[in-house]
Amino acid sequence: MAGHTVGMTRLTVTRGDITTQDVDAIVNAANSTLLGGGGVDGAIHRRGGPEILEACRALRAGPLAEGLPPGEAVATTAGALPSKRVIHTVGPVWHGGQSGEEDVLRSAFENSLERAREEGLRTIAFPAISTGAYGYPAEAAAEAAVTAVRDWVLANPGALEEVRFVQFSEHAHRTWSRMLEDVLDPG
Ligand code: APR
Repeated sequence: MAGHTVGMTRLTVTRGDITTQDVDAIVNAANSTLLGGGGVDGAIHRRGGPEILEACRALRAGPLAEGLPPGEAVATTAGALPSKRVIHTVGPVWHGGQSGEEDVLRSAFENSLERAREEGLRTIAFPAISTGAYGYPAEAAAEAAVTAVRDWVLANPGALEEVRFVQFSEHAHRTWSRMLEDVLDPG
């Protein structure tokens, strides 16, 4: 697993399925309804079981009556998944890059890291948010995500032990591994 240490936090990339990662929190690439979907969302609800949807429904009946806005993040139980918590976040839908998509994507990563820190979680795994159904180009998403996570980790030293980027395809794995090198060891 390719890895770099930023401050006291390891940033790693691995090829695999987010639902099998043995970390404190896995991040769900959700939509604003929080009521499930395909891709990562579908896999997490399928593997995690009904408890997760019940927790999401409770949020919709309570503090998140309007749904989860893009760029925001909220934690729920992880149900039957190996992790302790699922952090649901909503990435931007890609519209060509001129309507603030990068800022929303960075916020999705930053707010997910904030939720983990608030709950004292030490290891977190992210999928490539927005690069599937939401159409965000993989390379641009990787650059925005890795720089956002690097900046957050430098501003919150010791808050997390590991941030893991989990890539489903070999192509995405190569893209994200190269991006970690370029951003973290530019020398
Ligand atoms: N583990 C890790 N990565 C995965 C998995 C998995 N089990 N399944 C899919 N991926 C990858 C995809 O290959 C893609 O690179 O996650 C990335 C994000 O793809 P999506 O899941 O489509 O997420 P996103 O692009 O953010 O679209 C979100 O899709 O599933 C719906 O409800 C969801 O409406 C929301 C939208």
